[in-house]
Amino acid sequence: MAGRHAHAATSMAIVTDPEAMRAEVLAARASGRRIGFVPTMGALHAGHVSLVARAAEACDDVAVSIFVNPTQFGPSEDFARYPRTLEADVAAVEQGGARWVFAPQADAIYPPGWATKIVVDGPARRFEGEVRPGHFCGVATVVCRLFLTVPADVAYFGAKDWQQTLVVKRMVCDLGLPIEVVVCPTVREPDGLAMSSRNAYLSAEDRGRAAALFESLTAAGRSWQAGEPVAAIEQQMRTHLTSRGIAVEYAAVVDRNSLEPLTTPQTPAIAIVAGRIGKTRLIDNHLLPSRSGG
Ligand code: PAF
Repeated sequence: MAGRHAHAATSMAIVTDPEAMRAEVLAARASGRRIGFVPTMGALHAGHVSLVARAAEACDDVAVSIFVNPTQFGPSEDFARYPRTLEADVAAVEQGGARWVFAPQADAIYPPGWATKIVVDGPARRFEGEVRPGHFCGVATVVCRLFLTVPADVAYFGAKDWQQTLVVKRMVCDLGLPIEVVVCPTVREPDGLAMSSRNAYLSAEDRGRAAALFESLTAAGRSWQAGEPVAAIEQQMRTHLTSRGIAVEYAAVVDRNSLEPLTTPQTPAIAIVAGRIGKTRLIDNHLLPSRSGG
């Protein structure tokens, strides 16, 4: 769908230089255009495409960054084998109506001698922060760098990485970064599996079992509405995942804003899970409806 004002001559530009990217966005904003930004690591799927579509609806111009950020991968993680599909990504983004793809080399983002990191505490502490030490430092550092390089009005993130959205919002608030953060719903396969670039790693057999994450979350939603205690719901999630051959890293019902334990029955809650299927690590979550009383 077209943005607020259609853009003349809409051929998409691929920009690799941060200064050039920043100049383009500032010039567009100076002419009164509202700019949307979708940061990605490429290997784009329908979830990313939905973010671009949402940005294109609400903004005049959309920038999409494609950068596999080395600093958010641990030493034994999948940085080297993370899927890189630049040509297909560029086609998808152009189709979605973006004006710019920002696809920098690593040394343009991390210059020689690079020594500055952003550390977010609070929502970054538990879950992914525990299982993947340094991950959110890498995310916050690159997202801050990207926000400075693509000084958009609004940035779009997927709810599948819920904890990441909390970390980014916390950083934007704490550093006073002049950008609005919009979180968009998770896009799912027909069997409920959340779209993820890492789904490409799954063997056919593992792919069959991967729907268990979504099944455990929807079952948690039903138990939650039936008023069952948090500990019982968490145990049910673990039992279901384990029965489907998934090695559970965490399965929890927590405060959706802080990711800390629920303090009152009315606290807005979220169920979150992470597990390994074979060598593939997947995460997912489900916002729980408010429940009164118990
Ligand atoms: O969600 C992602 O793809 C990445 O964590 C992000 C936000 C692009 C930072 O590298």
